[in-house]
Amino acid sequence: MEQVKITLPEDEIPQRWYNIQPDLPAPLAPPINPKTHKPLGPEDLSAIFPMELIKQEVSMEPWVEIPDEVMRAYQLWRPSPLCRARRLEEYLDTPARIYYKDESVSPPGSHKPNTAVAQAYYNKEAGVKRLCTETGAGQWGSALSFSCTLFDLECVVYMVRVSYEQKPYRRLLMQCWDATVHPSPTDLTNAGRKIRERDPDTTGSLGIAISEAVEDAASDEDSKYSLGSVLNHVLLHQTVIGLETKKQLALVDEEADVLVGCVGGGSNFAGAAFPFVKDKLDGKEIDIIGTEPTACPTMTKGAFRYDYGDTAKLTPMLKMHTLGHDFVPPPIHAGGLRYHGCAPLVCLLVSQNVIEPRAYHQIPVFDSALTFARTEGRLCAPETSHAVKAGIDEALKCKETGEEKCIVIAYSGHGFFDLASFEKYFEGDLEDYAYPQALIDKALEDVPDVDESSIMD
Ligand SMILES: Cc1ncc(COP(=O)(O)O)c(C=O)c1O
Repeated sequence: MEQVKITLPEDEIPQRWYNIQPDLPAPLAPPINPKTHKPLGPEDLSAIFPMELIKQEVSMEPWVEIPDEVMRAYQLWRPSPLCRARRLEEYLDTPARIYYKDESVSPPGSHKPNTAVAQAYYNKEAGVKRLCTETGAGQWGSALSFSCTLFDLECVVYMVRVSYEQKPYRRLLMQCWDATVHPSPTDLTNAGRKIRERDPDTTGSLGIAISEAVEDAASDEDSKYSLGSVLNHVLLHQTVIGLETKKQLALVDEEADVLVGCVGGGSNFAGAAFPFVKDKLDGKEIDIIGTEPTACPTMTKGAFRYDYGDTAKLTPMLKMHTLGHDFVPPPIHAGGLRYHGCAPLVCLLVSQNVIEPRAYHQIPVFDSALTFARTEGRLCAPETSHAVKAGIDEALKCKETGEEKCIVIAYSGHGFFDLASFEKYFEGDLEDYAYPQALIDKALEDVPDVDESSIMD
């Protein structure tokens, strides 16, 4: 029998995370203070993050030891399987070999707990009692709720209002893990009240929810803030995905020729890709492709410059591809991946042509999710569908050229709580939509120019 699931024993969970910072092909621009435009020091971040995570944010050590208690939490679902998508290959009639690294097997159903358990652990160690965060469709909120339960921390989640109303099941899942969930914007924070005064009917956005969670955390001594993507330490924790994938490919004598993933803030993609990026920088040939929706085309159309991480301009400014911090996603778009910015580490590698960004319309993306479900049986999250679409496209290219490439798809999560989006798709209520360049240009007018030469000296 040909092998389908390539599994590793539990003692093969990687014991160290891979930090790409010392291996980057160009210097990473540091986060800067939104008022002074000066690079931030550790003390600037200590109101919202514990020191261990701040150290990881700037660490130049190539490997970071995973604490025992985080390993014990990882054992609940790791190592995750790498699966060969044979039925999909047969359906596509491609000579390519397609694998997918299945992060949907975690308790909340996505890659997000890889960093959530680590963040909960470091906060607990630092004596923190309560973690505040934001969530869009609820994947990150549910991952942090689950992780806070493991480490006995209180969890407060600001959930984008439109999702809070339209997606009750993830909210209920968070409540099962004992979290408090607020529809954002709320009247509980200055940021929330201001936005509600200006626009009482706002459906909310991730940028607004981040502003509320940061404000809440910064104004309470026992609380800290936790972010599910974008920052260096989050991407670091996610590298367990790529490190396991490499071990699994080696078990079946494979090497990846193509690696595809979806990019929201960039964490699952970076986690799967960075260990392979290192090989590419060392001269190996591999195509590393990050995919995003045309409705939120951060990497493909955004400007690569400093911008705020949130709508209220409370967070540090980061150098990243951005659509402008007050971006609100178009309501006709059903998928996730709706953040205006993206991880500075991923953006730097895009700007250096190490990572290829690619944008897809939502209807073909949902088509691909169903092709996958009807061949492999698994229904992926709308975010993950972007990666599946890229994997299918690459396999079809191989069909044309006859190349027998090894394609790896970063399969970030299942779609069981996203069935309402699939219902919209079945009913023909989804439209393809490309976010207009004019709106991006207009939004960026509101972002102050930062003199980068003085920062990078
Ligand atoms: C299943 C899934 N994949 C991907 C993403 C995008 O996030 P990131 O780019 O940080 O991996 C999300 C975000 O919530 C998600 O839930």
